[in-house]
Amino acid sequence: MRIAMIGTGYVGLVSGACFSDFGHEVVCVDKDAGKIERLHQNIMPIYEPGLDQLVASNVKAGRLSFTTDVAEAVKGADAVFIAVGTPSRRGDGHADLSYVFAAAEEVARHLDRDAVLVTKSTVPVGTGDKVERIVRDTAPNLTIRVASNPEFLREGAAIEDFKRPDRVVCGVEDEGAREVLAQVYRPLSLNQSAPVVFTSRRTAEIIKYAANAFLATKITFINEIADLCEAAGADVQEVARGIGLDNRIGRKFLHAGPGYGGSCFPKDTLALLQSAEQCDVPLRIVEAVVSVNDGRKRAMGRKIIKAMGGEAAGKTVALLGLTFKPNTDDMRDSPAIAIVQALQDEGATVRACDPEGVEQASKMLTGVEFCEGAYETAKDADAVVIVTEWDAYRALDLKRIASLARNPLLVDLRNVYSHEEAAKAGLAYVGIGKAS
Ligand code: UGA
Repeated sequence: MRIAMIGTGYVGLVSGACFSDFGHEVVCVDKDAGKIERLHQNIMPIYEPGLDQLVASNVKAGRLSFTTDVAEAVKGADAVFIAVGTPSRRGDGHADLSYVFAAAEEVARHLDRDAVLVTKSTVPVGTGDKVERIVRDTAPNLTIRVASNPEFLREGAAIEDFKRPDRVVCGVEDEGAREVLAQVYRPLSLNQSAPVVFTSRRTAEIIKYAANAFLATKITFINEIADLCEAAGADVQEVARGIGLDNRIGRKFLHAGPGYGGSCFPKDTLALLQSAEQCDVPLRIVEAVVSVNDGRKRAMGRKIIKAMGGEAAGKTVALLGLTFKPNTDDMRDSPAIAIVQALQDEGATVRACDPEGVEQASKMLTGVEFCEGAYETAKDADAVVIVTEWDAYRALDLKRIASLARNPLLVDLRNVYSHEEAAKAGLAYVGIGKAS
């Protein structure tokens, strides 16, 4: 199969590289000439474990290439995937589809033969119909079949998720698109490693949002139960295990923490609410999830201040980890942003470190002193706070932390450690959803 991938963001670049690794011939396109130039030199625009090797080996094998030229990329393509951004539109939370529509129009203008146009970007229900109208108007003489193929990969585990997904969802409206997508995903269905689920296009579009909203709900649910555990003297990790062993509930996504962030859950839950409102179907559970999660991030700042005795002015807080989760440099909607704000508003000085996120964080956070590593950050701190559970913070020398800090207090927003471990090192300990 010859595949063109429009957009070399997270989803586009990982999908393009993995498709080429399956043996397809893939051309990835991006408007950003600098990005394409860096990709030619095997410099990745994102931090994702294993991606540079995957790209290098497939470029070397002649199956993967990069260009800024849409016409060159779509020439002779069997399938063209659109994987451009769909950010939240300022003000109303709607997904901004202008990049998707512009890409569809440009692809249709340059296609030289019938092809399947597949939306991989996360788009609201009904977008496929709009894309179909655009391509029909632009290229009335070609048969361009429009399909939806949402992506479920996670940042930090993107290659593994793409190559060994729980399922692949393809929304098609005709046999032609179904056949092409079945070919594209043949390597996955061949060894029965993943079911390829074919649905209608609208159903596939809703599956993507429903999946993300459900996961966001699961996290938010356990976060509220964590608050109850703290107040009632129980342990949320044991509660999560106790309920998660029920297969109907499942153990994953029950880690209580500072609230979900990232480039997907916050944006997609808002966009789902907008779609639902347009259909006159209020989704009250998702509404509650969004508002509880927003409130939680700032509440984490107050939790830290409470742990320091209720006063922040003149105190120094050391934050370990800033990205919204480990193994990424992504700071979008990271709980760290609200936490820093809440601490600074109350007069605290914030020092912070992150293995990969400092460059992004320094663009978003003002007045933060960035340090090299956990121990330098912990120096003279009144509280050392684990915000993101990077591996580098999972085996800290807690005694060293205790001796470096001004006040030996560990606030563990990811439950990496326990009261016992902290106490042994002479640290006071505050976790999430645990009696203190
Ligand atoms: C999420 C979904 O997991 C992917 O399936 C989906 O493809 C992706 O969004 C997307 O729509 O593109 P991602 O945002 O990369 O992936 O990250 P997750 O690992 O899902 O984590 C999201 C947030 O939830 C993080 O802030 C994480 O710390 C938090 N989280 C996750 C918890 O607080 N507790 C958990 O148990 C799990």
